[in-house]
Amino acid sequence: MLYGPIEWVAASCRLLSAIGDEFERTRPFDGLRIGTGIHLEPKTVALLLALQRGGADVISTGNLNTTQEEAIDHLTANGVQVIGKPTSDADEHDGDLRGVLATRPDLLLDNGGDLFARWLEEPYDGLIGGTEETTSGRGRLTPLREQLDLPILVINDSPLKQFGENFHAVGGSTLESLLRVTNRTVNGRRVTVFGYGSVGKGVAAYLRQGLAVVSVVELDPVLRLQALLDGFLVPEHAEGLRTADVVITGTGAPDVVTAADLPLLADDVILTNVGHFPWEIDVAGIRAAAAVVGEHPAGEGIATLVLDDGRRINVLTGGHMVNLAGPRPLGNTIESMDLGFALQARCLEAVAQRVVGKESCVVPVPRRIDEQVATAYIALHGRR
Ligand SMILES: NC(=O)c1ccc[n+]([C@@H]2O[C@H](COP(=O)([O-])OP(=O)(O)OC[C@H]3O[C@@H](n4cnc5c(N)ncnc54)[C@H](O)[C@@H]3O)[C@@H](O)[C@H]2O)c1
Repeated sequence: MLYGPIEWVAASCRLLSAIGDEFERTRPFDGLRIGTGIHLEPKTVALLLALQRGGADVISTGNLNTTQEEAIDHLTANGVQVIGKPTSDADEHDGDLRGVLATRPDLLLDNGGDLFARWLEEPYDGLIGGTEETTSGRGRLTPLREQLDLPILVINDSPLKQFGENFHAVGGSTLESLLRVTNRTVNGRRVTVFGYGSVGKGVAAYLRQGLAVVSVVELDPVLRLQALLDGFLVPEHAEGLRTADVVITGTGAPDVVTAADLPLLADDVILTNVGHFPWEIDVAGIRAAAAVVGEHPAGEGIATLVLDDGRRINVLTGGHMVNLAGPRPLGNTIESMDLGFALQARCLEAVAQRVVGKESCVVPVPRRIDEQVATAYIALHGRR
């Protein structure tokens, strides 16, 4: 039998595999069509095929820029209809999303509110409800609650996602990515982490476990106190930059590090970001600064800017999320994605089976499902 990356991921998605086995018996989606527009890569393939094993007719398109051809081939070979091809053209992507809705799915597995928002433009009868993966999608759909009037469960608001992915998986993959991209040690290096939300907390904790000396810069005084009591140094912005060998931003906010900060930075400092948007480090503004007199490509994912006083500033992966860019970008662990996708499968099951109704419009994952998935994870991974 052919065994490649898709099979490796499928074998590592132990929760989804067990849910798929159960769904084959219980068939929660018999006669129902699930429409989705998500990153099409090996981990989402495992999710879509688990839903299919539950009787769903699955119709999918990808997201902008992220669709992998092998994922499309595998899905198509297994009876999942994929609309469109990999694209970075927003109009084409819009057409693909509308193509999914034209098949009138009974359930939507949405990402960023793209499908539910378009459904509101041209509603059709029979949509039961669905799920939304992201916090940004929650923000987009919350003001539309009255019009939507459907059960929509928001996966990212689950505590399992917050600590399983944002804290542990991003923390671990950030440490791994720093080592992989730079091939330098972090032991004994002074690392300053900007932001102490779930992501910053995980990054700070994992870098400390990696034997770096970690400081945290956080605007919110309550979180700053928490960082202090967690044993981190909590300098102000300028001091945090001045003392850093490595700077990691994970705030979600724009312009955390800009050209105005260049005078503060030590020679050979590394600047890197794990926040969603590539705007936390203003790479374009820094490149354009008068003090920058040269730039060297120092390796895949590393740009070394040279300042007029001779200092070198190393920017990783152009300011894009370091765990999802650069050489061999694997993102978060398969297990952490399996956890989130198990929540997806269980939430879609609850909506399909009418266990939740339209009073649950854009709300977090029900506690019962969090407990069910947590118990299953412990049973699969926690006992030896
Ligand atoms: N790379 C990944 O795989 C991955 C995974 C999940 C989330 N994310 C992204 O990581 C980012 C952070 O996520 P989160 O859940 O921790 O968000 P959060 O909103 O809970 O925390 C962000 C923190 O940053 C602080 N902050 C804002 N501006 C700041 C500044 N200029 N200086 C210092 N602190 C500042 C805020 O006060 C807040 O406490 C988001 O953009 C999120 O989308 C990335």
